[in-house]
Amino acid sequence: MPDPIRRAADPDSAPDAVRLRGVGFGYGGRPAVLRDVNLSLPNGSFHFLTGPSGAGKSSLLRLLTLAARPQAGRISLFGQDVTQLPRREVPALRRRMGVIFQDFRLLDHLSAFDNAALPLRLAGERPADYAA
Ligand SMILES: Nc1ncnc2c1ncn2[C@@H]1O[C@H](COP(=O)(O)OP(=O)(O)OP(=O)(O)O)[C@@H](O)[C@H]1O
Ligand SMILES: [Mg+2]
Repeated sequence: MPDPIRRAADPDSAPDAVRLRGVGFGYGGRPAVLRDVNLSLPNGSFHFLTGPSGAGKSSLLRLLTLAARPQAGRISLFGQDVTQLPRREVPALRRRMGVIFQDFRLLDHLSAFDNAALPLRLAGERPADYAA
């Protein structure tokens, strides 16, 4: 049986996890933050995104989590074109991603455990499977 990690990283056997073609993005009427971005990240691969403050790293991640939409170009995630994905379909797609925010985004009224467990609860996991 083929090594599952090798198979997942094989571009011939799985669609790219992320694929951007000619993507442009900006805020309001200001100059574009991202211009004609082409990017392919194969399934199972590992990457760092680096650049100076204001380079557009968070903006790119916002596009990948569908928190923002591009003004130009196309974005595919897990082999699906999501450029114009209806809003109601975004939560299901987001459940396939793990995001750790720079500024925590914790909910004040929940304990640390409940904050960490929330995505599992929303995904329908049984407490017995994740509670100690
Ligand atoms: N909500 C916003 N409204 C208007 N302009 C914004 C907004 N968010 C970011 N920008 C501008 O977009 C550009 C890219 O910002 P972005 O936050 O993507 O950069 P970054 O690479 O993540 O920076 P940092 O390393 O400081 O986190 C910057 O010029 C920033 O001022
Ligand atoms: Mg940032």
